[in-house]
Amino acid sequence: MGDRSATGGYDPSGIDIDAWEKLELQLEETIPNYDRVNRLMTFGQDKRWRRNVRNHATPGMKVLEVGCGPGSFAEDLVGLDVTCLDPSAEMLKVAKNRVDSARESRGESPAQYVEAIAESIPLDDNTFDMVFCLFSFRDFQDKKKGLSEIYRVLKPGGRLVICDAGKANWFHGLGGRIWMATVVQWIARYVTREKNHPWKGLANTYTQYGTNGYYRAMMKEVGFDDVQGRLLMPFMMSSRFRATKPKAE
Ligand SMILES: C[S@@+](CC[C@H](N)C(=O)[O-])C[C@H]1O[C@@H](n2cnc3c(N)ncnc32)[C@H](O)[C@@H]1O
Repeated sequence: MGDRSATGGYDPSGIDIDAWEKLELQLEETIPNYDRVNRLMTFGQDKRWRRNVRNHATPGMKVLEVGCGPGSFAEDLVGLDVTCLDPSAEMLKVAKNRVDSARESRGESPAQYVEAIAESIPLDDNTFDMVFCLFSFRDFQDKKKGLSEIYRVLKPGGRLVICDAGKANWFHGLGGRIWMATVVQWIARYVTREKNHPWKGLANTYTQYGTNGYYRAMMKEVGFDDVQGRLLMPFMMSSRFRATKPKAE
């Protein structure tokens, strides 16, 4: 990944464009091994986290997943009107195959796919009952802008649920960085059989990520109500944020 030169290498509010473009290439390289590495590095907890987030939706809702990647989360969104957004055409191609065949097997109509970044969502105001971000928030170029766009496309009373790597505070973040720099690297090397696997650079996105408190404050600044954000048990590896767009602005 780039060195985020514009920010001296660390800025939890976003990523400079040069570093982001390199990050996108690395994310695309993960596609063939993405689910397997995730499963191993989280001791299988990623499935539980996805279910936890998914259970916030109720049948019939119109939902948007921002940063859908290869469709690991969206394929299991049952009984919902689903839109998947991602800036990577490669990710969207894989997601479309996967999500639409799962939907077809359940007798559901295909999802909608949008190639765009969170910071500039080409969709109308007040459209969605719920927006999900699974392991994509820490990749946003500009987190406040992305949150503002999500706020705009949510209906009044609509909810945002984010699940991403957990960082409660500096000390907890240090533990996470050690985990990313050691165990995750060994697992990725084992699964990919490559010395230069993409998880080498991806560990930086955790190093440069902010704390739960930092993002809770950002969500409130954007206008969200009922903002919550906490580590998920049992391993405290990930955090889940929930926030609501007020009914009357
Ligand atoms: C690690 S994948 C997450 C995949 C999936 N959501 C899941 O449940 O595992 C992160 C995704 O975020 C996307 N992404 C990166 N920057 C983004 C941005 N600014 N706006 C929206 N998505 C972004 C990447 O293209 C990538 O597909």
